[in-house]
Amino acid sequence: MKRLAIVGAGGHGRVIADAAQCSGWQAIDFYDDAWPGTGPHAGPWPIAGDTSLLFAQFDNYQGVIVGIGNNPTRAAVQQRLIDAGASLASVVHPAAVVSRNAQLGAGCAVFAQAVVNVGARIGDGAILNTGCIIEHDCLIEDFVHIGPNAGLGGGVHIGQQSWVGIGASINHLIHIGRNSIIGSGATVIRDIPDAMVAVGTPARARPA
Ligand SMILES: CC(C)(COP(=O)(O)OP(=O)(O)OC[C@H]1O[C@@H](n2cnc3c(N)ncnc32)[C@H](O)[C@@H]1OP(=O)(O)O)[C@@H](O)C(=O)NCCC(=O)NCCS
Repeated sequence: MKRLAIVGAGGHGRVIADAAQCSGWQAIDFYDDAWPGTGPHAGPWPIAGDTSLLFAQFDNYQGVIVGIGNNPTRAAVQQRLIDAGASLASVVHPAAVVSRNAQLGAGCAVFAQAVVNVGARIGDGAILNTGCIIEHDCLIEDFVHIGPNAGLGGGVHIGQQSWVGIGASINHLIHIGRNSIIGSGATVIRDIPDAMVAVGTPARARPA
């Protein structure tokens, strides 16, 4: 039986579980450091314990993924899992379209209706949320979150741990630095440096 462990039993983790259930994972257990305060279940899936319990039984799982939406926290937890010897999995909803000529890193979550086009490179631990479009030749670095329905034109480069909000549009060839936030609905027509928050149409940036 193909078993998946998800760390983080919040809403994002449950969307991963739902996608995993549709894509060949036969058993799904959650682990969450708020357990037992979380209660016994995350929706229809059991919460088996906290991460110390998971660390003691990696052999029971074919894959582990971090289901935490916050980018720095997801990065830190994924690193702890790697250091402890976990085998990371990416979960891709069957209704997502990922080009055979794109690259996807370890521990990524790709949700329904997301499109990743030819030549795109996606780093480790990225979230490609529902309905987002990653056009050809984009470079998405590690632990980035592309929000639902956000659209990235060809050749866009997003730096580590940046977050593109729901429905944002980013013109082709734009570079967004590391640890920046693009607000919901923003239209980005110029490069955005590291550690900025950019909102509006056209997007204007201020330090985070
Ligand atoms: C950009 C964002 C992070 C800013 O959050 P914040 O720092 O709490 O900002 P505030 O709500 O205090 O707003 C600060 C100012 O920015 C404006 N603003 C905030 N978000 C904005 C947006 N998306 N578009 C335009 N203006 C925005 C506010 O109107 C406010 O303007 P004012 O100072 O003139 O009144 C947040 O609004 C956002 O867009 N997050 C993305 C949400 C998302 O994608 N969720 C889906 C998750 S799956």
